[in-house]
Amino acid sequence: MSFIQSSVGRKIIMAVTGVMLFSFICVHLLGNSSVFFGADAINAYAEHLHSLGPLVWIFRLAMLFLFAVHIFFGIQLTLENSAATPEKNVQIKRLRTGFAAQTMIISGLVLLAFVVYHLLHFTVQVPGMGVYEFNEATHMTNVFTMVVMGFKQVFTVLLYAVGLIFLALHVSHGFQSFLQTLGLNNDRSLPVFGAISKLVSVVLLFGYISIPVLIIFGLVKI
Ligand code: HEM
Repeated sequence: MSFIQSSVGRKIIMAVTGVMLFSFICVHLLGNSSVFFGADAINAYAEHLHSLGPLVWIFRLAMLFLFAVHIFFGIQLTLENSAATPEKNVQIKRLRTGFAAQTMIISGLVLLAFVVYHLLHFTVQVPGMGVYEFNEATHMTNVFTMVVMGFKQVFTVLLYAVGLIFLALHVSHGFQSFLQTLGLNNDRSLPVFGAISKLVSVVLLFGYISIPVLIIFGLVKI
């Protein structure tokens, strides 16, 4: 049996791709936090990223690949697990693994929808979805205006809040699962991993959600 056919192999693939996507999410939050330092800070950060030229596209393709692999194996593992779970054991399994673990496929698919929406909003910049002010000097959209104007709409903020809650739910189990796949788990470490994962997901949730919330309450403004 090959590595990707074995369930251990596929769990390792899920863990490795998951932790790489998680790293992106952490770096992205740090980058986005520059919005709190004003227009010049976030625009300079975006210009710096775009100045990397072809590297940006290599990075995007790598991310797309990781995302696709993570989704493909995630769906496959879910289908296999549900086929292998006898109905009478469902309640036991739920009690043992918890809500976040049981809803990984749902939180993952909601996240996928959120990422598609987010890319159309801020990366593709679909006309009508936001305010896109082109800067002739930098040949780029003014990212500060785009973000601040985007989060002046209550509906957009609500959509982001829902997406971010599902992100936190997904990470709260995913991170713990990653640590277990590394083989570090035993009876003593398991609750510690659970607590670390919850903490990490809460930090991500509050970190990300603070951006639209501070904007809609006028604490970050143009
Ligand atoms: C308040 C929350 C967020 C804000 C303000 C935000 C902001 C942005 C902005 C401004 C861009 C465009 C960057 C540019 O082209 O210059 C972007 C791209 C992106 N964001 Fe977010 N983001 C948020 C949450 C998220 C989350 C939770 C995820 C993942 C689950 C995510 C994934 C991405 C991806 C994959 C890109 C495309 C990167 C690229 O173009 O290379 N973002 N985001």
